[in-house]
Amino acid sequence: MSKTTAAITAVGSYVPDFVMTNKILETLVDTNDEWITTRTGIKERRILKGEGLGTSYLAIKAAEQLLEKRKLDPKEIELIIVATATPDMMVAATAAYVASEIGATNAFAYDLQAACSSFLYGMSTAASYIESGRYKKVLLIGADKMSSIIDYTDRTTCIIFGDGAGAALFEPNNEGLGLQDEYLRSDGVGRNFLKMDAGGSLLPASEETVKNRQHFIYQDGKSVFKFAVTNMADSAAKIMERNNLSHNDVSWLVPHQANKRIIDATSNRMGLDDSKVMMNIQRYGNTTSATLPLLLSDYESQLKKGDNLVFAAFGGGFTWGSIYLKWAYNS
Ligand code: UT7
Repeated sequence: MSKTTAAITAVGSYVPDFVMTNKILETLVDTNDEWITTRTGIKERRILKGEGLGTSYLAIKAAEQLLEKRKLDPKEIELIIVATATPDMMVAATAAYVASEIGATNAFAYDLQAACSSFLYGMSTAASYIESGRYKKVLLIGADKMSSIIDYTDRTTCIIFGDGAGAALFEPNNEGLGLQDEYLRSDGVGRNFLKMDAGGSLLPASEETVKNRQHFIYQDGKSVFKFAVTNMADSAAKIMERNNLSHNDVSWLVPHQANKRIIDATSNRMGLDDSKVMMNIQRYGNTTSATLPLLLSDYESQLKKGDNLVFAAFGGGFTWGSIYLKWAYNS
């Protein structure tokens, strides 16, 4: 009997309408389009405007697009995982609300948080549930409203991040397609380089933390950059090596969209031509948990059954890794 693997069988995505261009950022902080473009590759990002709209709004829209495209009855979904660093609330799981709102009344649902590696780790989690044979339809959503934790007076972070969401459905496959291998790592030494200080159990919210702007994301960009370049490239190279994949065998690199220079370093290390590298950082910036599924959604029409995809991500914590997946359908 052939082994059951976990394949992605549908994708969906959503980005909000409001486009925050580099020109707009020039009016908020001391920066310019030329610096942002050459140092990061970003031209614009999407921002969710409107009272009372949190990450769940983005996640619901992405899930609804997937359901509509696949003509899938939400009642068939058994589990929903929302990968996010910006849940609607600290305690009530955003995923539970998303499940109810999309009509997935037979599903259980929870959130998964590993900063920019949330979706990558979520792929491992979703695939494991399928491979175990216990569940047949797992919906993994990567969604972040990064604008809710960005200080728009801090030019070192506000130029990078944007809002968005993407969703992927995992189902069993008996043709050997889907997730093939994973190399996932973390190292707590990174916790002080990329973080949001307050609002957690270590430093609960207070007048002081608000005054000190500690509810916004902080990053030591230069240090994070160095760790990201090395580790994203190393893990992608490792996945290729232990699966005997040459650059000719890799159809696509699906890299976390944090900085074009980090993506270029990873693809160079893999010996890949630019035409095999998925990239949309110029339009969305870094959407944290949403970068990987947003890429899948944008490139879906170019993907062919059997294509070898190598995913790579790096994020706060530090967390990072790489996943090798065979694409399972032609759209
Ligand atoms: O997704 C999670 C993981 N996150 C990442 O992977 C992000 C990794 N880091 C980065 O992408 C880059 O470090 C940044 C894009 C954040 C910064 O780029 P950089 O090339 O590392 O710049 P830097 O921090 O070394 O700063 C270079 C100069 C500094 O000026 P001086 O000291 O040389 O005079 C900064 O003050 O650029 C200045 N600078 C800016 N100038 C214009 C910093 N931010 C800006 C800005 N506009 N927005």
